[in-house]
Order: sequence, then structure tokens, then C-alpha cells
Amino acid sequence: MKVGVVGAGLVGATAAYAMVLRGSCSELVLTDVDTARATAEAQDIAHASPVTHGTRVSSGPLEDLAGSRVVVVAAGANQQPGESRLELLGRNAEIFRDLLPRVAAAAPDAVLLIATNPVDLLTDLTARLLPGRAVLGSGTVLDSARLRWLTAQHAGVDATHVHASVLGEHGDSEVIPWSAVTVGGVPVAAFMSARARPWTPEIRAQIEADTRGAAAAIIGGKRATYYGIGAALARITERVLGDRRAVLTVSVPTPEYGVSLSLPRVVGAAGVLDTIVPALDDAEARALTASADVLRAARSSLAE
Ligand code: LAC
Repeated sequence: MKVGVVGAGLVGATAAYAMVLRGSCSELVLTDVDTARATAEAQDIAHASPVTHGTRVSSGPLEDLAGSRVVVVAAGANQQPGESRLELLGRNAEIFRDLLPRVAAAAPDAVLLIATNPVDLLTDLTARLLPGRAVLGSGTVLDSARLRWLTAQHAGVDATHVHASVLGEHGDSEVIPWSAVTVGGVPVAAFMSARARPWTPEIRAQIEADTRGAAAAIIGGKRATYYGIGAALARITERVLGDRRAVLTVSVPTPEYGVSLSLPRVVGAAGVLDTIVPALDDAEARALTASADVLRAARSSLAE
């Protein structure tokens, strides 16, 4: 199956590379307004193909997206040190208003997977620009992975056996419902207690801070994040291509909150198939409503 990646910057190219390493798809096309960049990234990634899964990798104009089952959109400006994701909205919304209708026309059968930040509001905008198209945003899939990894360090187990869902904005207002975090299927507090492993409010607060602050810390050290998001995009793409009905905290317009945000969703060939409404305590429910308020307030700054 064919996948398109729009935007050959660090995130798009790394997502493409991750898909080649994982054998996510049989064909991958990379496109960018900077054609020299797209060509060079595609050539470099293609050279990994013979020693991995033989993915056919190419670059070209938007028209070459034809036949894609998923198109990952990673085009636009990315955060600079000290800049929030929401501050990118104006610039990237302007890019999306021009670009996304052309992407949709070039790949009429593709599920559109939005990665560009602020991902929730750009997913929201894309869904409004393209009513009826299957659109989802990477949302907090990466944040959930960060939370799982950090919790696993304290639990002393393989991070793939920690399950956790970060909800709401992919950003500073995101919600970490500890009540839903499990280790090996056991609620995390019970898991830690049974093994006399430290699990204090201070530890949880530090994990929350490290989850929310991960991107800023990495950007401060190397000016961008791309490995974590690249792997997350590959994972989401694989779940769509395989119609796997995987549960992922992707972002789609959510009527109860009036904006696109992340909740646990069932992801398959048609994009989001269902939403799993999490059981939240009062504080968690209030925090999720507050996160939606942040997103709607930021969206109101956009000229229609
Ligand atoms: C991050 C970017 C993808 O959280 O927003 O690393």
C-alpha cells in the first residue's frame, strides 16, 4: 500500500524513514515545496530500503500522492526555543488553507493524518476545509508514549506493558488521568504498592512535568523533536493501513468539546471508527474541559 508524506522537514522525513525501517507500507512518496530537500531526503531514505523491507521510495510533486491510502501532513513552521505550539497557528493555518485542498484533490482516497502543530487546531481546520474527508491528527499519541516511558522507569517494566492515555490538547493544557494508567493490566498505584516501589504525589507531579515539558526540553537541546513523533506517525499509519482497530489518543473534532482534541479512539482503515469515553474523576473532567477551552480560545484568534 502507498503512503504520501507532505513536508520533507525533520518530522516528515523522520516519519518516512521510520515507515521504511518498520516496513509500514510498500510504497512511499515524499513531497515538499523545497523539491531539492524532498529529492535528497527520499534518496537518502531509499538507500535504507534494500537492507530493510524493500519499500519503494520516491519524491515528486503533489500529483504523485495519487493512490495513497494515507497522507501524512507535516508541512509548515515548527516550534523555536521558547515558542509554544499554539503560537504557530496563524502561519500554519495560512499554509493549510492553500495546501490541504490540493493534497485532498491529489489523493482523493487517502486518510489525512495531520502532524503539523498546533496539531489539534490544524486538524480542526482541515476537517472544516474538507467536510466528509477522513482526517485525524497525531494528537497526544506521542505524549501518551512519553507518559508510558516515564512511568515504566519507575515501575521497572518494559514500557510497552504500561498503558496510559494523555487527553485533550497536544500541548501545555493536556490532561494526565492517573486513574487510567495501568502496568501489566494492573492500576499503577496497586502495581507500585504491591512491589513497595515509591509512588508519591511528588513522583507523579514530576512525571507530569516531564511529559508536558518533553518537547521544550528536547527543542532546547537540539532545536527540534522528530524521532518520537516520527515513530508515532508510523504507528498510526500502520493501524490505518491494516484496519487494525487499534486504540490511540488521536485528535479529531469532538462535538462534546466543540473542537478537535485527543481521546482514546479506535483507529482503522476509515480513520477514527469510534471514541472510547474515558472514566474520569471530577478533577480530570474539569481539566479536560479546560483544555478544550484553551483550544477554542486559540481557534477564535483565527480569521475565518
Ligand atoms: C512534540 C512535537 C511533535 O511534542 O509537538 O515533540
